[in-house]
Amino acid sequence: MTATGVSYSSASLSSAAASRRIFKITTKNLPVLSCRRKPIKDFSSAVENDSKLASFGRRGMLFVTAIPFFLNLHESLVGLRANAAEDYFLVKEEVKKVLSKGKAAGVLRLVFHDAGTFEIEENSGGMNGSIVFELDRPENTGLKKPLKILGKAKAEVDMIQPVSWADMIAVAGAEAVSVCGGPIIPVQLGRIDSMFPDPEGKLPQESLDASSLKQCFQRKGFSTQELVALSGAHTLGSKGFGNPTVFDNSYFKILLEKPWSSSAGMSSMVGLPTDRALVEDDECLRWISMYANDQDLFFQDFRNVYIKLVNTGAMWKPSS
Ligand code: HEM
Repeated sequence: MTATGVSYSSASLSSAAASRRIFKITTKNLPVLSCRRKPIKDFSSAVENDSKLASFGRRGMLFVTAIPFFLNLHESLVGLRANAAEDYFLVKEEVKKVLSKGKAAGVLRLVFHDAGTFEIEENSGGMNGSIVFELDRPENTGLKKPLKILGKAKAEVDMIQPVSWADMIAVAGAEAVSVCGGPIIPVQLGRIDSMFPDPEGKLPQESLDASSLKQCFQRKGFSTQELVALSGAHTLGSKGFGNPTVFDNSYFKILLEKPWSSSAGMSSMVGLPTDRALVEDDECLRWISMYANDQDLFFQDFRNVYIKLVNTGAMWKPSS
C-alpha cells in the first residue's frame, strides 16, 4: 500500500511505478544559481557619478529580487515537463505489454474510427474517445476486441495516473504503426473524453468514389495528399496489401498494379472500393506514385498526418 492508498500488486504495475521514479525531478536536482553584485554602497555612488551604471545597478537589483520567482517558475516548468514525459512513458509501456503485431491493424483502425467522425462545419466528432459508446454501429464492427485489449492497459495506467480513452487510443495507434516497422510517431497527451457518442454517419463509406472521398476528407480538414497518406494505413490488415503485419509502402505499390483487374486467384479480392477508387483519380495517383517510389516520404507524411488526425476535434486539459 502506497501513501496514496493504492496497492500495486502486479509486476507490471511495479515496473511502471519504478519508471515514474526514474523521471522524478526534485528541487535537489536543480542547479544552484550563484550571483555576485555590487554592494549597495557602490551602487549609490554610481548613481551620483554615472547614470548608465546607475540604470544597470537598478536592473541588477530587479534581477536579484526576481531570482526566487524565476527559480519557482523553473521548478514548476521542469516539474510539468517531467510529469508529461512520465505519463507518456507510462501509457506507452502499458500499451506495449498488450500490443502484438497481430493486434496492430485493429488498434490502428480504432484511431480512425474515433477521430474520423470530425466535421469542421458542425464542430462535432473527432478524437474524443466517444468510440467507446459507438461500438454497436455497423461501421465499427470488429472494434470491440481491440478496445478490450486497450482496456487492460488503460486499467493499469488509471491506477497510477488516470488517462483518457482518446489519449490511450492515440498512443496505441502510434505504437501499432511502429511495432510493425513504420515510423516512430510522438503523441501529445491531455485529450479529454466526450461523455456522449458522436453524431452518426460521419465516417466515409467504403462505396465512395474518389471525388466523394476527397470531399468527405476535406470536410474533416484533410487535403487529398493527406487522404492518400492516411489510406496507406491499409497496408496493415487483411485487404491484400502485402504482409498484414508489416507497415511499409506496399499499399501504394500494389495499388499501382491494380491486381483486382485480374480474375486470377485471390487478386480480385485485393482492396476496398475506396482504395481502388484512389488510383482512378489523377491527383491521388500522383501521390500514390510518389509514395510507391519513396517509402521515407510516405513515412514522413504519414507521421505528420497521423499527428493531425489524433488532434482533430480534440478537447484538451488546460495544462496540456
Ligand atoms: C479512406 C476511407 C476509409 C474507409 C472507407 C475505410 C474502411 C475500412 C474497412 C471497410 C475496413 C475493413 C474492416 C474489416 O476487415 O472488416 C478497413 C480496415 C482497416 N482500416 Fe480503414 N478505412 C478508411 C480509412 C482508414 C484510415 C484513415 C485508417 C487509419 C489511419 C484506416 C485503418 C484501417 C486498418 C488498419 C484496417 C485493417 C483492420 C484489420 O485488419 O483489423 N482506415 N477500413
